Amino acid sequence: MFIKAAVVAFVASSIYFLVYKKDVFLLEESDAERNIIAAWSSLIKLPSKSFERLVVGVNSNVDLIVSGVDLLKALKLKPGEAQNLDQLNSLNDLQDIFNFFFTKGSAAERAFLNEEVYKQITRTAESLEDAQFYIGGNAALMATKISSAFPNVKIQYIGPVGPKLRDLLPQSLIIPEASNIPVDEIHLIMEYQVGEKWGDNTAPVATRFITSFDESNSKATMIETFFENVKPFDPDLILLSGLHLLEGQSQEFFSQRLAVIRNGLNNIPRELPVHLELASMANKKFVKEILEQITPAINSLGLNEQELSFSAHAGNGPHPQQFAQTDGQPDVHKISDMILWVLKTFGYSKSNPDSKLSRVHFHSLTYHIIGTYPGVWKNSPSAVAAGTRMAGMQACDVDIIDPDSVSLKFPKKFYLHTGSEEIVFNASNPVISWQREGFEFSLSPVLVCKKPLKTVGLGDSISATGLMYSEFNKMIR
Ligand SMILES: *[C@@H]1O[C@H](CO)[C@@H](O)[C@H](O)[C@H]1NC(C)=O
Repeated sequence: MFIKAAVVAFVASSIYFLVYKKDVFLLEESDAERNIIAAWSSLIKLPSKSFERLVVGVNSNVDLIVSGVDLLKALKLKPGEAQNLDQLNSLNDLQDIFNFFFTKGSAAERAFLNEEVYKQITRTAESLEDAQFYIGGNAALMATKISSAFPNVKIQYIGPVGPKLRDLLPQSLIIPEASNIPVDEIHLIMEYQVGEKWGDNTAPVATRFITSFDESNSKATMIETFFENVKPFDPDLILLSGLHLLEGQSQEFFSQRLAVIRNGLNNIPRELPVHLELASMANKKFVKEILEQITPAINSLGLNEQELSFSAHAGNGPHPQQFAQTDGQPDVHKISDMILWVLKTFGYSKSNPDSKLSRVHFHSLTYHIIGTYPGVWKNSPSAVAAGTRMAGMQACDVDIIDPDSVSLKFPKKFYLHTGSEEIVFNASNPVISWQREGFEFSLSPVLVCKKPLKTVGLGDSISATGLMYSEFNKMIR
């Protein structure tokens, strides 16, 4: 259920930010980073016609970050058992599970099922002196990113917005009344430092335990509101995310909500592009259902290596065992084979004219690829490069990348796809485009921040940036 998915999501995102230490793909060229930054500057251009009016939804929450040990103390809990649990119901459960992962030093996430107890916990957490509040949820993060990078774009945001989140979100967002909820959905992030003590136990590394009681997001309660508000706003681009949160529900409920989403998407004209940002899921059946039911009804899909390789696994695609690889970055040719498979199997082509899907934006720690159906999307080389450049900027939390603070982790030699000739990477020409079986691909390496500061929502920012540098030409049928 949700919990399992969340753990996978968290572990996957931890891997995402840790693998760079392994130097699997270190390129020894001394000026590579400088050359790539220079090449991006001359290559990246805004499209001739940019998106101006966006509808974005539907998942959002407040991330409340506190010291885990301080919170347990404030709740008057004493160090006790260390025990792994699937879900949490009581204050003692919180102590037991926190103690368990604190001692192991591994990141984890569990759902809280008792609303009253959860409220008591978050009230206490909010009152802690060092409590920090941040915007959470893929949709809210995408809207926030675009509003700061493209201040002239009008954005209507639809998703659960409580009073605290309303204060945190940019004032420029247009938030209809129907998005308001009386109490924020709070994701509680209990951090701890390496060497910190709880009772007799010492944390071996610094990481975090996360818990939440999610009402709106886990049932996608805003989805009807979302579709109702599309037409009156008259947007030229729609960004959707949050489907993964339905994973905690029963098969029947999941399928019913998916049918509502598919129906809503089918009522959107083909000329109005919809981008769906995926997030980590662990249930094969649900992922297969999203691929089959939803991807043909959207125009653009954004995902990372874990989500793409799990999709290939769930949908009988190429390299089905790639998803089990837990260290290092996936080979370029395997990822490009999978993107081609998504486009060919679920996307628009002459033999599948009813599908709308014509763009896949893949992002991982060390490189990104955009695959498109020719003629529908323009400016993909700029879009993929803008997304990779943004990844380094956001991770290092700077407006201009300092070449000494980032490093290239891309292979010197690689294959564009299975059966292609070997390519030698040239840092003066870092953005590579090619065609295969009637589809177009563009790749750009990432300059990986050596000391990342801001990694939450990185995938959302990458996809949002890539879209704003893309141009939707028209939907051929
Ligand atoms: C790399 O690309 C630059 C710029 O296009 C070019 O001048 C140079 O010859 C290339 N280097 C190699 C080894 O191909």
